[in-house]
Amino acid sequence: MKRLPRVAVIITIVTIVLAGLVVAFVPLSQGLIERWSQRDLELRSGLVFRSIRDRVEQAMAGQPADLAPLFERFTSDERILALGLCDASGQMVVATGQMPKVITCGAIGDVGTAPARAVRFAVFNNSGNRVIVGGFPVGNGTPRGRLLIVHELRFVADRVLEARWYLIAGALALILLAGTLAALTVILLQRRLMNSVLATINDLREGQPRSLVKPIVPPPPVTTEIRSLLRDFREKIRLEDGSPVEWSPKTLHDLLDNELPDTEVFVVSNREPYIHNHAEGGIVVQRPASGLVSALEPVMRACGGTWIAHGSGTADRDTVDGSDHVQVPPGNPAYRLRRVWMTDDEQEGYYYGLANEGLWPLCHIAYVRPIFRESDWQQYVAINQRFADAVVREATRPDPVVMVQDYHFALVPRMIRQQLPKATILTFWHIPWPNAEAFGICPWKEEIIEGLLGSTVLGFHTRSHCNNFFDTVDRYMESRIDREQASVTLGGHETMVRPYPISIEWPPAAMEGQAPVAACRQAVIARYHLPADIRIGIGIERFDYTKGILDRLRAMDDLLTRYPEWLGKLVFIQVVAPTRSKLASYATLQDDAIRLTAEINERHGGEAYQPILLVIRHHEPDEVYELFRAADICVVSSLHDGMNLVAKEFVASRDDEGGVLVLSRFAGASSELGEALIINPYDIHGMSDAMHRALSMSEVERRERMHLMRAHVRERNVYRWAGQILLDASRLRKRQKVADFEAGNGL
Ligand code: F6P
Repeated sequence: MKRLPRVAVIITIVTIVLAGLVVAFVPLSQGLIERWSQRDLELRSGLVFRSIRDRVEQAMAGQPADLAPLFERFTSDERILALGLCDASGQMVVATGQMPKVITCGAIGDVGTAPARAVRFAVFNNSGNRVIVGGFPVGNGTPRGRLLIVHELRFVADRVLEARWYLIAGALALILLAGTLAALTVILLQRRLMNSVLATINDLREGQPRSLVKPIVPPPPVTTEIRSLLRDFREKIRLEDGSPVEWSPKTLHDLLDNELPDTEVFVVSNREPYIHNHAEGGIVVQRPASGLVSALEPVMRACGGTWIAHGSGTADRDTVDGSDHVQVPPGNPAYRLRRVWMTDDEQEGYYYGLANEGLWPLCHIAYVRPIFRESDWQQYVAINQRFADAVVREATRPDPVVMVQDYHFALVPRMIRQQLPKATILTFWHIPWPNAEAFGICPWKEEIIEGLLGSTVLGFHTRSHCNNFFDTVDRYMESRIDREQASVTLGGHETMVRPYPISIEWPPAAMEGQAPVAACRQAVIARYHLPADIRIGIGIERFDYTKGILDRLRAMDDLLTRYPEWLGKLVFIQVVAPTRSKLASYATLQDDAIRLTAEINERHGGEAYQPILLVIRHHEPDEVYELFRAADICVVSSLHDGMNLVAKEFVASRDDEGGVLVLSRFAGASSELGEALIINPYDIHGMSDAMHRALSMSEVERRERMHLMRAHVRERNVYRWAGQILLDASRLRKRQKVADFEAGNGL
């Protein structure tokens, strides 16, 4: 009823009232019809009288009985029942055979007196049938008489009955007509309403306000119903755009099916999701320690497609087919891994050189000087071209969706665009983008920006990284920047630049088969020969100088110095996966960390107690999750980090809502996980205070914080991250198709 247009309601009410009036009119109509009919008969009787008066008056002067045949002829009229003649003495001197017995000359009134000259009418009951008698004075002078003309009234009752049925049928027809009218009104209005609302929704989805769209048909007035529907649809959009949607592999899969049907999907990254290595017992598969891989792998499992990456394992060549493909995950294949090969020299220049000695320190402000070598740049260009060519070769359609990952492939988007102009290229920059000034020291800044602007969408973790990118483009390129629409147009090609905070799968695959928290704790205590009541701190990452590992160790030192109550009661397990060890900055970090750990352990520990356990080896995801679950606190002290998925993984691992996260404000994750204890890793005292607070926190507070963070990571999982990018891609794809159509290029 709420949604029924008002006009339909009015039509319905008016009809019901009208029909009611018609029905109420039925009894009234009976009296009216009777009166009209009697009047009609009186007139007819008058006519009959006037037509025979002369004959009657002549006969009265001579032989009244001669009138009998004339009277009988009149009764052949179906409504005239009888005729009779009364003389001056009140005797019926002539009467037709049908004259009812109840009708006598006296019954119609005196005939000899003056007033009796008046015409009289009376109704009689003739054996159940009503008749009307008209008494007309005859005999112009004396003797006077009266002509009786008797009409049947039965036809009046038939007429009343007939009229009643007509009225009822009319009322029903009226109701039916009005009902149909109301229904039609509702349907038409709803259809117009829906069209208008859907058009508005589309416009809102397209990010274009309704007012900017030229209406072909004037929009209907905005009624309350429209407004309420719009509210519903806006809510729907909000759901699509925001948290309450449950993002899962299925949601992502459905999104691809509905929004990007029959689309070929590619991921391009340097690091491969599964590395095959030769080991003593044969070939083993390793999952690399990489935030990029932990995020993208579940997405590919959900979407299918082809992942193109560097084959870096010692057994990688032995496990691919003739086209360098291998189906993964091993044992449960869901997508195809296409390996790209490179020589050691190429890897040296492209990966270690330009990517990790140049761009990595350039983008992470961690006070390690970036190194730029021309030869590295040449290798970088060549390897980027190789990966772009691999995409083009693998693509079987002109318009694949290609998800290019990270700073290793800044040139790939434009290289693909040149060969596949219709491709939808979604580039994600997993590390921070520095301010324009800092980026300006890169000798190939223009080429890198130009390469990235071959993308359809360019994503960063945070809005501030997007803003830094806009400033950089503004400073160094001739282009059109539309900050309102968040886009940059270079050489006629527009690239959307948006923040997409990356996340992890929920629930994490590594949680499958995890023992309860207490059992995990027991296992870790047993593995490292720790006392049963020990408090455990944990840090897990690649051995990278951006992670603030040395600062964390110093904070542990400071904690034990300033809060000696933790001596012997707290162990910090620092797990580090060796990475890029060939580079001096990384090798130095490892040496420094080993030395610093030894110093601190010596200062605060002894044979029985080592406050810091430095574990340098790669850990598979289930081992990492076991450690997280065993910990009282987890410290993420990045000096600068795009997002940092370790923080989110720790939260995801704590289904008991235990554990406290201590998190650097310079990690992108800090803008999402506000319930962590946020620290500045350059402030050692501040960090150790936070660690002390985390260890001393009440269970209630701990649970409350963890509960909120878990809800956030659950909602904003990696399926949502990929979903948001793919939704934007599908919108831009549709927009491009329309633009092509308008330009006459066909769809
Ligand atoms: O943080 C940037 C990044 O590419 C991550 O996405 C990934 O976790 C890490 O670097 C991988 O480093 P590498 O592949 O050099 O070991």
